[in-house]
Amino acid sequence: MDNKMPVPNHIAIIMDGNGRWAKKRFLPRTAGHAAGAEAFRRTANYCRSIGVKYLTVYAFSTENWKRSEEEISGIMKLMGKYLKEAITDMEKNRVRFKVFGDISRLSPELQKLCTDAQERSAQYDDVQVNFCLNYGGRDEIVRATKAFAKDVAEGKRQPEELTEQMLSGYLYSADVPDPELIIRPSGEMRTSNFLLWQSAYSEYVFLNVLWPDFQPKHLDEAIMEYNRRNRRFGGA
Ligand code: FPP
Repeated sequence: MDNKMPVPNHIAIIMDGNGRWAKKRFLPRTAGHAAGAEAFRRTANYCRSIGVKYLTVYAFSTENWKRSEEEISGIMKLMGKYLKEAITDMEKNRVRFKVFGDISRLSPELQKLCTDAQERSAQYDDVQVNFCLNYGGRDEIVRATKAFAKDVAEGKRQPEELTEQMLSGYLYSADVPDPELIIRPSGEMRTSNFLLWQSAYSEYVFLNVLWPDFQPKHLDEAIMEYNRRNRRFGGA
């Protein structure tokens, strides 16, 4: 990476292609997710080393519950293993960890790992990793709307005072700036219900590499593409 290259403050990634990576190797899908977890570790470390302040990754969507029980339990097991190992790393590297999503549907053990990791890392502010787990963009907006409606019903808010900024404060991403760059590997070109509200002005970069094969050079490539684009926010 060229040291003078500007780096986005917040990068978000749809970690896609684990299943195809495994299929190509005649391996079970879970092996693809395990390789995907390694790619995440590698990418998170690289992002930290080049000065990215926020990294948001799509780990499990509200739609992913439709997959086989075997695959879901494989992914959940990997998450548990990863979180156990990651807590010490987060402390060493001063990384704040946040979950975006409804964790109440996860096993009690995994819920505890998530809350412990969030609590233990809340004091750090060098880098923040947002882990989207049982996350859906529409679901997030519905939850925010309900929370606002509840505040109105309780007399804490007036309907007229609602602004975009206020609604943002009810999202999982309250206090997190919007991502400037969203990367989707694996050749798919969809947003798949990821960060619907926050991506209003994000640049999308789609890469033809399966997530488990994702390397620092792919991140560099996405950042270079991002830097080449003229970002105008709808202005002239
Ligand atoms: C998409 O690939 C990936 C997922 C639904 C799960 C993402 C999970 C991980 C990267 C592993 C868990 C992460 C950590 C850090 C413990 P896909 O299965 O949809 O791939 P396909 O489109 O090729 O089938």
